[in-house]
Order: sequence, then structure tokens, then C-alpha cells
Amino acid sequence: MIFTPTPFDPEQIVFGPSALKHLRDFLKGRNYAPEDIFILTDENTANFCLPELPDLVHDVPGEQLIKISAGEKSKSLKNAEKIYRLLMEREATRQSLLVNLGGGVITDLGGFVASTFKRGISFVHIPTSLMGQVDAAIGGKTAVNLDGIKNQLGTFSFPEQVLIYTGFLKTLPEEELLSGFAEVIKHALIANRGYLEYLLEQDLHNPGTDWETIVKRSVEIKSDIVLQDPYDFGVRRKLNFGHTFGHAFETCMQRKGRAVSHGQAVAAGMICESHLAYLKTMISFTDLGFILSSIQKFIQKIIIEADDFDVIFDLIRSDKKNERERINFSLPDRIGNVQINKGAAHVEILECLNFYKML
Ligand SMILES: NC(=O)c1ccc[n+]([C@@H]2O[C@H](COP(=O)([O-])OP(=O)(O)OC[C@H]3O[C@@H](n4cnc5c(N)ncnc54)[C@H](O)[C@@H]3O)[C@@H](O)[C@H]2O)c1
Repeated sequence: MIFTPTPFDPEQIVFGPSALKHLRDFLKGRNYAPEDIFILTDENTANFCLPELPDLVHDVPGEQLIKISAGEKSKSLKNAEKIYRLLMEREATRQSLLVNLGGGVITDLGGFVASTFKRGISFVHIPTSLMGQVDAAIGGKTAVNLDGIKNQLGTFSFPEQVLIYTGFLKTLPEEELLSGFAEVIKHALIANRGYLEYLLEQDLHNPGTDWETIVKRSVEIKSDIVLQDPYDFGVRRKLNFGHTFGHAFETCMQRKGRAVSHGQAVAAGMICESHLAYLKTMISFTDLGFILSSIQKFIQKIIIEADDFDVIFDLIRSDKKNERERINFSLPDRIGNVQINKGAAHVEILECLNFYKML
């Protein structure tokens, strides 16, 4: 296989209040005419975020503003098809540009559509949720879900620009903010203890919270890992910390009709996987306690029952990161580092679930 060495360029990530102005310069610099530009939003980002881009709204013909329903259900092949048809009807060409303005659903779906339409057109991400800004818009993974299974179809495809304006977070519902914050905590746990200590000093309800610093620091950590392994064959799996248990929690709770946010599930997953690291004597009891209290300071626990254990175990076993029968985890060996490809036995997984249930 031949890969370009580094398709991911952190230089294309622009931060701050001027990020939105930068879009105008970017469009001008690339000679995009208004007819070339399509904007994908959901009903909330069309309402709360699109007005922050008055020039674009003014210039781009109204029928090139695409609005879909908000929520994970929209990350579907059906919606991708709808957008392909719209692009065709409105005579998009290979020179067209798709601007994805929204949370992770919009950047995943819009990135997927752009990277496959006519074998790929350019796209720009303007992430508007914390999850989007620190995670989904960074690193070139695009996806749609299929038959209720997350991210079954997708591409590695890198946006021309990622424009991050933390002012968008003002209108983000608290539950969504906390969901994104779980990934922020994950970044600290996998890369930098000092950053975790900084986060612990934060009061997220304080309107003066310095989101710019937090988002920048998290993006740096993710970018640094993606740069080393853009196609996820090795070190990028560090970012999966909390996600093997986390995805299983997310699906289990959804099936029970008590859906939890992605971040809440990842937070639960990080607790279970830290316990697993403790069982394997990779971290001390003191470190386990510190991780636990750090997560629980911000993110509410999920209530699970012993009856859920088998379902969660089966979901973990079918996780895409597993190789044949081996179940793989990314586990901490101290606060600020994780090791990838660590196996675990059935009995250890059950012990972690029991530990979490008893908290
Ligand atoms: N590609 C990746 O590497 C990657 C990484 C992490 C997550 N993801 C994906 O991201 C998705 C989750 O992202 P998300 O949490 O942003 O979900 P989301 O896109 O559904 O956004 C959450 C909610 O917040 C609303 N919203 C977004 N920005 C807003 C704003 N500024 N003001 C008011 N409301 C706003 C949305 O309309 C939605 O209702 C999942 O599908 C997940 O799989 C992808």
C-alpha cells in the first residue's frame, strides 16, 4: 500500500474570533464563486450559527444552503443520498466546495458526502459543538451509520480548512457541552497530567471559562497523535481510550431506551478501562482514584444493572478494534500516557463492569 506521508496538516486549523473572517480570505484566495459553495447545517446550527457568517449567507444562493434534522439519526446513508441528489440538481461540479457548519454529525456526514461525491470535492469544517471542535472535525475521519451500527461507512479524507470559533459554544446545550468535555478529559489523561490538573480547576458553568485555551490544547494533543498515524494503524489508537467499553455502554443504553450522550458513555468507559489497567498492575490504586474523581467531578455516572453485563460484553467483543478473538484496549500506564493493543479476558471485563456498577 502507498500512502501520502502526511495528508493531515495542523496548519489548516484556524482558531479564534478571526477564524470566520479567515473563511472569506480562503474563498477569495481559491477563487470560489458563490455558485461553487454549498453549506450543510442542521436545524440548530442553521438557527444559532449560520447568522455568524453574514457574508456567506448573503452571497451564496439560498438553494445551496442545505439543512437537515439535528441528531445522530441524520448521520445516515439516506441523508448522504439526499445531499448527493441536491448537489446534482444544483449542478455542483468537482470544483464545488462543501462547508460543514455543525457538530460531529454534520462534519462526519458532510465530510463523507464531500469525499465521495464525484470522487471527492473540497470541504471546510466549521465545528460548532465542543465535540466537533476538539474531536470530530480533527483528523480526517468521515462516516455515516448503517443499520444502527455507528460509522460503518466512511473515509479518511482531510478538509481544506477547519475553522474553530469557540463563541459558538455559548448556545450549545449543557448536556452537549459535557459530552464534548469527556473527550477533553480523555485528551488530558492520554497525554498530559498537567493539563488534567488545569481542567480540574475549571468551573464549566462560569461564563468566563477560557474555552479557547481548552479547545486549542485538546486540538494540539489530537493533532500530534494524528500526525504520527493518520490512517489509524498504530499510535492513533491511543485516542480510543475509554471507547471500547464506551461504545458498548452507548449501544446498550440506547437499546434499553435510556440513551446517554457519547461523552457520558466514554467517561464510563474510561473508568472501566482505568480499572482494567489497575487489574493489570499498569497503574496504582492512587492513580485509579485520581482518574475516577477527575471524571466524576464533571460527568454523571450511568446506571447499569448486572443483567446488562452479557449484552455489554457481546458488544465489546464485536468492536471493530478487535483482531479475531482478541479484545483490544488502549489502557493508561500512568496519568498522561496510554498503551495500545492491550488484551483482556472475559473475567477481567466483568470485574470492571462490576466495579463501575458499584460506584
Ligand atoms: N470523525 C471523528 O473523528 C469523530 C470523533 C468524535 C465524534 N464523532 C462523531 O460526532 C458525532 C457527535 O458529535 P456532536 O456531539 O457534536 O453531535 P451533534 O452534531 O449531533 O451535535 C449535538 C447537538 O448540538 C447541536 N448544536 C451543535 N452546535 C450547536 C451550537 N453552537 N448551538 C446550539 N446547538 C448546537 C446540534 O444541532 C445537535 O442537536 C457522533 O456521530 C460521533 O460519532 C466523530
